[in-house]
Amino acid sequence: MSLDYLPIFLNLKQQPCLIIGGGAVAARKADLFIQAGAVVDVIAPELGNEMNFHLEHDKINWHPVKFSVLWLEQLESLGGIPQPKLVISATDDQAVNLAVYAYCQQKGIPVNVADQTKYCDFILPAIVNRNPVIIAVSTGGRSPVLARVIKARLETLVPAGYGRLANLLGQYRDQVKATISTLVGRKLFWENLLSGLFVDKVATSNDTKEAEQLLVQALAEHNVVGQQTTGEVYLIGAGPGDPDLMTFKGLRLLQQADVVLYDRLVAPEILDMARREAERIYVGKKDKHHAVPQQDISQMMVDLAKQGKKVARLKGGDPYIFGRGAEEAELLVENNIPYQVVPGITAAAGCSAYAGFPLTHRDYAQSVALVTGHQQAGAAGIDYARLAQSGDTMVFYMGIKNAQKIQSGLMEHGLSPQTPVAIIENGTKANQRVSISQLDGLVSMIEAEVIKPPALIIVGEVISVREKLTPGGQHD
Ligand SMILES: C[S@@+](CC[C@H](N)C(=O)[O-])C[C@H]1O[C@@H](n2cnc3c(N)ncnc32)[C@H](O)[C@@H]1O
Repeated sequence: MSLDYLPIFLNLKQQPCLIIGGGAVAARKADLFIQAGAVVDVIAPELGNEMNFHLEHDKINWHPVKFSVLWLEQLESLGGIPQPKLVISATDDQAVNLAVYAYCQQKGIPVNVADQTKYCDFILPAIVNRNPVIIAVSTGGRSPVLARVIKARLETLVPAGYGRLANLLGQYRDQVKATISTLVGRKLFWENLLSGLFVDKVATSNDTKEAEQLLVQALAEHNVVGQQTTGEVYLIGAGPGDPDLMTFKGLRLLQQADVVLYDRLVAPEILDMARREAERIYVGKKDKHHAVPQQDISQMMVDLAKQGKKVARLKGGDPYIFGRGAEEAELLVENNIPYQVVPGITAAAGCSAYAGFPLTHRDYAQSVALVTGHQQAGAAGIDYARLAQSGDTMVFYMGIKNAQKIQSGLMEHGLSPQTPVAIIENGTKANQRVSISQLDGLVSMIEAEVIKPPALIIVGEVISVREKLTPGGQHD
């Protein structure tokens, strides 16, 4: 396919660039030149606010005259202004724009007349700036708005720390070259490194020290081309159900995985986002009969990582909130497997928001308790006395089967029977169902409406805010 324009990156440090015009458009173009380190001269009888800002910060040289070729040539010959490398004309006087264009054509200086593609030798793209990583987007001047929309999407995909990442890679380039003699070997080394935990350590956690250790270790392990290295594990919170509630980081790591271990609560749409060739292993658990015991899941992760695989462990909600993520992480640490935890939106946050009420509110609740309604054998019971007196919004996970105990436990310790209660079944999913009652009607509501897990029981005055937050007071 042909190219309308050749994208190149110019080094403009200390290079003279000229801008004709002092308005907002001219100022925005000047800003790019300034960022690129150019020496910027501006010719304009007056300056607008934005250009004045550049002047006040000594970023431009201002010539307060109306542009004329004669004046410019005189100034150049007197050495007052060097011949520019690039020129931009951004005035609302077309005669001036055309004169600038003609002057540049005659002198062979690349020129851009703002918003007039036919008078442009070059165009300035929309950029995603993670210096020294720079992504330029152009529609060939056809739709600057489309270019900005694409830029906005890229902004969300490219972590802010990619500049730091590029700098670090640059620092180790020579060392890698000295250690791995073949081009193919180096390519493989960099590809392996850049598809692993290292990237996230630098780019998103700002953990350069640990990342450097990973790099050095990978370099030491890379004596033989293609040698098996240890894999890694990502414990990813997939959110409560709506696939859009997964984080960018979770998605990025999921798409790097060779194997995906997933729970019953993970939405199929999220699983679909893994690489097509990634192996998918279901490790879902059902109450009372564990499809795969927790220990086996943890061991499976360790074994897969030891085979050099990148393992994504997808968990519903957040891995560290009733997700047994810590137990899995513990075994990974014991086995020296690099891992990272990606937080997810926990069911309490997702379900309450989608059901239309907050978890805290200045007037109703200053704190939240996340409580498991499913007590492990031998574990201390729920402290209903404390909860009933706390004023917390209480969110019971896995509480449906123990609803009777929750209801009587809270009422016996003094919580008003009229306290609002919400049950959110399949929260944030297309089949979400919200049932509202009060504490003394909790159990009868579950029976009457045949409510089944996964469901959250939320108890607290904040639920009454729902009325105010729903336009027209309509609820599902
Ligand atoms: C083992 S816990 C996992 C919690 C998860 N780690 C989190 O942060 O949301 C499972 C319980 O979370 C709650 N839950 C998870 N997803 C839910 C959803 N979409 N709707 C309602 N409750 C949900 C239910 O109470 C379910 O029994």
